[in-house]
Amino acid sequence: MLKEFKEYVNEYDMNNHNIKYRYNHSLRVQKICVALAKMLNLNKEDAEIIKIAGLLHDIGRFEQLKLTNSFSDNEFDHAAYGAMILFKEGLIENFNVNPKYYDILEFAILNHNRFKIMEINDERKIMIAKILRDADKIDIFDAYTYQKIYKITNIDDEVSQDVAIEFKKHESINRKIRKTKADLLISIIAFVFDINYKESFEIINEQKYLDELYNQIENKEKFKEYFDYAKDYIKERIDEYAR
Ligand SMILES: [Fe+2]
Repeated sequence: MLKEFKEYVNEYDMNNHNIKYRYNHSLRVQKICVALAKMLNLNKEDAEIIKIAGLLHDIGRFEQLKLTNSFSDNEFDHAAYGAMILFKEGLIENFNVNPKYYDILEFAILNHNRFKIMEINDERKIMIAKILRDADKIDIFDAYTYQKIYKITNIDDEVSQDVAIEFKKHESINRKIRKTKADLLISIIAFVFDINYKESFEIINEQKYLDELYNQIENKEKFKEYFDYAKDYIKERIDEYAR
């Protein structure tokens, strides 16, 4: 599967740092999925499915960059596009995946970037989709901190009122209401409100992503309350499950 994925991506310009980043992100999300599968004690089949989902979740990004020359999420839904080329156009057949997993994979990939997971009556599908969303967010935290892929250091504007209100309701921030650079920072911090598993909170806690992000910001004091809020939330979630 990895070999086939490499072959697929090699058709794109690997000298383009965006392509390279997406390739590495896919590999890292796969790794996080494997780690979570172990921590969550998934059975062999589910562990295999989440491993595939991790690797293929962003496959729509490569065509997106070629077609639109951007990664903008406003004009192009790379998740829906990825699910479409894999499962409607049959690209999945190149990846040596058991066809009985197609349906679960399609749901997970389609839902990985949605504001909320579609409501369906299928716990297994929901579980795989939730793990994938957690793994994706963990790697985005990593990209903003240790990998230094994205930088959010000097923020010279303010948090919009709508964004502040959503944040304080423990809601993740819909990209449609994001207006300022400060909003972007708040929406990254708010990822924690959309984390599903205690094990994912533990990774975020151990890696100190929020501290690391905070330390990078020049005028950090202005945002301290948001960081404190999110850190308390993580602690509460871990304690709640430990009880
Ligand atoms: Fe994605």
